[in-house]
Amino acid sequence: MFYDGLKNDHGLPHDPLKQLVAPRPIGWISTCNVDGARNLAPYSYFNLVGDKPGIVMFSSVTRKHTLANIEATGEFVCNLATWDLREAVNRTSAPVAGEVDEFELASLTPAPSRMVAPPRVAESPVALECTSFQILDLPDGQGGEHPAKVCFGLVVGVHIDDRAIIDGRVDATILRPIARLGYMDYAVVETVFAMERPTR
Ligand SMILES: Cc1cc2nc3c(=O)[nH]c(=O)nc-3n(C[C@H](O)[C@H](O)[C@H](O)COP(=O)(O)O)c2cc1C
Repeated sequence: MFYDGLKNDHGLPHDPLKQLVAPRPIGWISTCNVDGARNLAPYSYFNLVGDKPGIVMFSSVTRKHTLANIEATGEFVCNLATWDLREAVNRTSAPVAGEVDEFELASLTPAPSRMVAPPRVAESPVALECTSFQILDLPDGQGGEHPAKVCFGLVVGVHIDDRAIIDGRVDATILRPIARLGYMDYAVVETVFAMERPTR
C-alpha cells in the first residue's frame, strides 16, 4: 500500500506511522521547575544524535511540563527505561497536574545528579545528565507551526550501574531497555548480535 504523508489517508483503523519507525528508545526524562519541584515522564520521540560530546533530542508533541521546565531551567536527565521498570515508566506518563511529583506517584527514589539540578531515578541503571542548548519549532506541513517542539541536550554527565559493565563493556542484556513500537506495543532488548563493518 501507499498513502499521502500529509493527507494521512492510510484508510487503516489506526495510524500505522509509529509502527513504521520502531523500536524507538524511551528517554525517561526528569526535570525540575524553577521552584525545584520534580517532574518525570517518558518520551519515545527520543534519541542519541551525536557523540563526543553526547547529544540527545526529544520531541514534545504539545507544550508539556517537561518542556516547560527545560525552557525555564535548561536542565534535564534522561533515565533508561528498562523491563524491570516498565510499570513505573508507564505510571509516570499519567496526565497529572504540574504540582504532582511523578517520583512519588510511581514510588521511585530521586537520587542527586552531579552536574544538573534535576534528580535521576535511582532505580534506573543509566542516567544522562543534560543541558539544553536548542529548542526547535516543527512545521505542521501546511505552512504553519506544529505545537510540537524538539529539544536538544548536551550530555554533561553519565551514570552507569557497575553491575551492567562486564569485561569493560556495557551489557544490553543486563540493562534490558524497553522501546516503543506503534499502537500500545513495546519491545524489550533481550537478544544481541554483532557484525563487523566493511572496510571498503
Ligand atoms: C512510552 C511512552 C512514550 C511517550 N513518548 C512521548 C513523546 O515522545 N512525546 C510526547 O509529547 N509525549 C510522549 N508520551 C506521553 C507523555 O509521557 C505524557 O503526555 C506525560 O504526561 C507528559 O508528562 P509531562 O507533562 O510531565 O512532561 C509518551 C508516553 C509513553 C507511555
